[in-house]
Amino acid sequence: METLDVSGLDLVTEEEIADHVYELYTQSAPPNQRGLGYLERSDLIHVTVNDHDLQIHQSVSSLSGKESSSTGFVAWSSSVPFAQWLPGWLGPSLKELQIVELGAGVSGILSATIGPKCSRYLATDQKHILKLLKKNLEENLSQEVHSTTLDASLPRNTRRTDIKNYPKIDIAEYDWEYSDSMKNDILAFFPGGAPDLILASDTIYNEYLIKPFADAIEGLSGNHTGFLGILQLRDESIIEAFLVEMTNRAFQCYHIPGHLVSDELSHGYVLYYMRKAVVPSF
Ligand SMILES: C[S@@+](CC[C@H](N)C(=O)[O-])C[C@H]1O[C@@H](n2cnc3c(N)ncnc32)[C@H](O)[C@@H]1O
Repeated sequence: METLDVSGLDLVTEEEIADHVYELYTQSAPPNQRGLGYLERSDLIHVTVNDHDLQIHQSVSSLSGKESSSTGFVAWSSSVPFAQWLPGWLGPSLKELQIVELGAGVSGILSATIGPKCSRYLATDQKHILKLLKKNLEENLSQEVHSTTLDASLPRNTRRTDIKNYPKIDIAEYDWEYSDSMKNDILAFFPGGAPDLILASDTIYNEYLIKPFADAIEGLSGNHTGFLGILQLRDESIIEAFLVEMTNRAFQCYHIPGHLVSDELSHGYVLYYMRKAVVPSF
């Protein structure tokens, strides 16, 4: 798969990060009424994304529960306009893409809408999120969905060479804090050795997560892999720190400018496409 054409995107170099973030908050400030960013505080919600009507089970009571990270027990608002916009932006190339999603959460909004349209889709998160994610995906896709982590029927740790025998959509544990030990299980899902696209919706919201999240992206990035992420504009220092972290790792960071995204995405959110800098070989 060819890497995405970046000619219309704005490259943000290390020296430009502070100015870029300042401009972002001046020009794309979130609407005043936007709160933390989850969709609804209810255990059952309904969401429409293009031609998909999704019914989503959440676990509001688990939000402040015993798990180390509980934000994934509810759906976050960025995922809806992101899922609405994404197929149009990727165009016909979407059907060839092999995609991994980081921090999918229980909702499966991206998995249920993008998963059926691409070549392969692996939704990942921490283990405690996967059971409800699987239930939501099965209900919304009206089919059984396999989870490499939860179902024992397929061997783990095996390169999926006989691709026809493996499910197109899968669900697996990938904890960014253990990406070194877990990344090979995730990479094994992709016959080319790495995914074409890494997707993430609202996965950067505190300083502590930046390094593990960057490790997770770097660990899954082959030469042809791109990362496409949407962030909600909350604390500007987090966005700045994330861009610094990725440029320090020699990733080219492109801001997707407002005129290329939907109206809804152009206020209160920011989208980046990132990929490893290509080192010329002489
Ligand atoms: C704000 S929620 C967004 C969930 C979903 N993408 C959405 O838009 O509704 C952040 C997600 O990151 C996941 N997450 C947080 N820390 C993680 C880690 N160390 N490894 C993997 N996922 C993590 C959470 O479980 C949660 O699903």
